[in-house]
This record gives sequence, structure tokens and C-alpha cells, in this order.
Amino acid sequence: MSRFLTTFCAFVAVAFVPFAIAGVTAPGDVVITALSVDKPLTDEAGNAESGKKVFANRKQGNCLACHANSDMSDQLFHGEVGPKLDGVASRWSEGQLRTILVNAKAVFTKQTVMPGFYTLDVGEDVRKDLVGKTILSAQQIEDLVAYLATLK
Ligand code: HEC
Repeated sequence: MSRFLTTFCAFVAVAFVPFAIAGVTAPGDVVITALSVDKPLTDEAGNAESGKKVFANRKQGNCLACHANSDMSDQLFHGEVGPKLDGVASRWSEGQLRTILVNAKAVFTKQTVMPGFYTLDVGEDVRKDLVGKTILSAQQIEDLVAYLATLK
């Protein structure tokens, strides 16, 4: 488990991206109402194909590290720390899925091990060069939402 965490943290460290881009909602400006972020984070509609790649990419979403997903049975390792994501779009609305990705702590408990992929609320002692950066970009979140919406 601790080796997993070390690997995961290393991936988070290299995957942080800057976000100051025009037409994009900054992480501090995302509005959550009733567990839902209804306004897309970018003007560009999410692309499910790109989202699928972000999901599987070990240096980006790395979602498979914690979640099994039958839609990706061609991938070798599926983690079991989080729930299986089959049918996730039937359990959560698109706005709620966006919230879970932006900041899982806003939906689950503060103790959740799921990272907040588009938030600056990442705890204390953040490495100096990563302060003010998010793990994924706003567009990557939108692409992921579009992909998760296909998992009915
Ligand atoms: C370090 C482990 C970890 C990673 C990485 C992770 N998650 Fe999670 N995720 C969890 C856990 C654990 C939960 C269950 C909530 C809880 O109990 O904290 C969860 C819950 C969810 C849920 C709600 C599922 C349901 O059926 O209710 C969705 C959707 C989700 N994650 C999507 C993602 C996506 C997409 C990614 C990649 C961008 C991702 N997660 C990365 C651990 C993780």
C-alpha cells in the first residue's frame, strides 16, 4: 500500500499543470451547488475519446490505479481502492461527476483518498513548485466528464 502511495504521489508530482488559460474557470472560482458543478469549466465541449485517454494515462488521471472499469478490459491493472466505475453515469448526474473530479472532498468526506483533480484545496506542506497548480487541466476534466457520461 505504501509503495502504491509513493508511486501515486510521484505521478501527482510530475502531472501538475498550470491553468491560467482564457475561457477557463480557475479552480478557486468553481461554484458547487447541491454537490453539483453545473457550469462546464471550459467553453469547449468535453471529448469522450480524449477523456478515456486521460482516465487510462498513468501520468494523468491514473483513475485505473484505484478504479476497475470493464470498458477498459484491455488494460492490465485495475485497482480496487475505489468503487468499480461500471454504470457510474446512472448513479451520478453530469454535474455531480464534474464535482467528484474537481474536488472529491466536496462530495465524500475530507478523508477520501481520491485526489481533487482541479482544486487548490490540497492540504498542507505542498511542494513549493506545485503551489497554485492543479493535477489536471479544466479541459481534461471536461473530457473525463464526457467519458464517464458514456458509462451507463
Ligand atoms: C487514490 C485512489 C483514487 C484515484 C486515483 C481516483 N479515485 Fe475516484 N474514488 C476513490 C474512492 C476511494 C472513491 C469512493 C469515495 C470514498 O469513499 O472516498 C472514489 C469515487 C469515485 C467516483 C464515484 C463512484 C461511485 O460509484 O459512486 C467517481 C465517478 C470517481 N471516483 C472517478 C474517478 C476518476 C475519473 C478518477 C481519475 C481522474 C479517479 N476517480 C481517481 C479513489 C480514487
